[in-house]
Amino acid sequence: MKVIEYKAEFQKELQNLANKNKKIGFVPTMGALHKGHISLIQKSSSENDITVVSIFVNPTQFNDKNDLKNYPRFIDKDIELLKNKGCDFVFTPSVKEIYPEQDDRIFDFGDLDKVMEGKHRQGHFNGVAQVVSKLFDIVKPNIAYFGKKDFQQYVIIKKMVNMLNMPIQIKACPIVRENDGLAMSSRNILLTAEQRKNASFISNTLFKARNLTNQFSVKELKDWVINTINANPFLNVEYFDIVDDVELKSINDWQKKNNKVGCIAVKVGKNRLIDNVNFNL
Ligand code: PAJ
Repeated sequence: MKVIEYKAEFQKELQNLANKNKKIGFVPTMGALHKGHISLIQKSSSENDITVVSIFVNPTQFNDKNDLKNYPRFIDKDIELLKNKGCDFVFTPSVKEIYPEQDDRIFDFGDLDKVMEGKHRQGHFNGVAQVVSKLFDIVKPNIAYFGKKDFQQYVIIKKMVNMLNMPIQIKACPIVRENDGLAMSSRNILLTAEQRKNASFISNTLFKARNLTNQFSVKELKDWVINTINANPFLNVEYFDIVDDVELKSINDWQKKNNKVGCIAVKVGKNRLIDNVNFNL
């Protein structure tokens, strides 16, 4: 496994591999790696000749300066963890390396980034698109892997690749959870012990909600989820919506044929956690 900081050196290595027709899989991350990230890397390694992982905390996607400052960074531990997991290259660029000049590009994702995370984190997905498009341009992968944990991000990246005519296949991987159901996240370590214990109430409420679809209308179920979670003094729901998995439009009728995904964001103290589950009947 090679760790590379500079894009010129990295591109030379990758060009060599592309010349040999090696199939390249890519997993972009912001580090503080956990089993969710590792599952994407293992999937890539099983489907490609070479797997590239990037670790870069992208400033342009943080709408909150404190969130950027407090974002966990464990680069040495991450590199250690990546050994023997099927990763061939770790790309760890500096901010200057990715943004030699300010990136002023504005992406138009239609309504996709006007809802849920996009609505509550202004500019977030534009920043994600800026960095992912640059990383794709450097790595030129055949396939890139994203977690369903960030469901809206996955949908928007698929749209971006389409818009920019990038010859890259985007694959989504299942959410990896802790034993008590909490979706793994780099941010979980920022929780106090008490907050961490209560955080599992989010996923457990979503799992329960999946069994209530024959008793409640969609609207009633949405209210039930929000009220149930808000009744826990550690948790404060920012939004919960059940949307289709392509246009991310709210669904108001269980009979709709689309795949239905229930997406939630919850404030736990100063931290914000997201999760989602399928509501396909
Ligand atoms: P990060 O939060 O580090 O996540 C990197 C990838 O791991 C994303 O595709 C995310 O969905 C996936 N992931 C995170 N937790 C997961 C879990 N519990 N189960 C399965 N997959 C999980 O997402 C980002 O970084 C950034 O926005 C990035 C795409 C790297 C652009 O900066």
